[in-house]
Amino acid sequence: MDFQFVQIERHDRVGLIRIHRPKALNALNRTVMQEIGEALEAFEQDEGIGAIVITGDERAFAAGADIKEMAEASAVEMLERDTISLWDRVQEVKKPVIAAVSGWCLGGGNELAMACDMIVASETAKFGQPEINLGVIPGAGGTQRLTRAVGKALAMEMILNDRHLSAEEAYHFGLVNRVVPPEVYLEQALALAQEIAARAPLALRVAKEMVLRAEEVPLSEGIRDERRNFYFLFSTEDQKEGMKAFREKRKPRWKGR
Ligand code: CAA
Repeated sequence: MDFQFVQIERHDRVGLIRIHRPKALNALNRTVMQEIGEALEAFEQDEGIGAIVITGDERAFAAGADIKEMAEASAVEMLERDTISLWDRVQEVKKPVIAAVSGWCLGGGNELAMACDMIVASETAKFGQPEINLGVIPGAGGTQRLTRAVGKALAMEMILNDRHLSAEEAYHFGLVNRVVPPEVYLEQALALAQEIAARAPLALRVAKEMVLRAEEVPLSEGIRDERRNFYFLFSTEDQKEGMKAFREKRKPRWKGR
């Protein structure tokens, strides 16, 4: 695939998407987001890929949506363009998606990272929702996902007063999964993705769906859905293989069936 601002690589069963717009600190304009969406879709269709990593570069995961692209737009133009809907494509992916974050992770960049399933952060990562400085609010899920991730008090401070989080703070407050030295953040994200990609594909898909569902539905409904899906997995060859392998004291061989 030929992209302008995105580079894709395969690392065994992991698909890597690199945002590459260094002159603008990887600001997410419409083309970048469209290309991320297309790359995600390609990896989603690819049976050889079990998990996906999205990263930027050392200076920035992404410094937000492209301010220059939207600065002069009217509300109607924003509505018609609806660039923000391109962020939704990340959460629609059924395979696990991990963000590998170094440097600036701001505004729409932080919203992109939060739309992923897990975040591996370099010690240099800085997280924030600075939209208040521009006279607006986060538009790609920030007010909702950040509040769920770090709680109301801190989300208020970050969104109302541009409070940034260091990588350590982000870990402490539950926004990221792990913090690692800058030299290895991508390597560690790929290794985590590789480990996950080696697991039972159907169970992974349902597990991801159910964890995301926990943020959407009342507890009793979520628990009911979980139980149905637990029983459903007993119709798969992978469940038979997984439990047989346990009894035979060997590693299971997953088929995704
Ligand atoms: N959009 C467009 N261009 C951006 C950008 C953005 N979000 N962030 C950085 N850039 C550009 C700068 O304009 C600059 O380009 P020029 O050299 O052509 O002037 C280049 O990237 C380098 O940036 P700086 O010179 O500003 O770098 P710095 O190291 O001095 O500062 C920074 C880094 C603090 C991250 C600063 O760039 C900054 O504040 N960026 C904007 C952050 C922001 O407000 N993000 C939210 C965007 S709105 C949004 O995301 C809405 C939403 O919810 C979807």
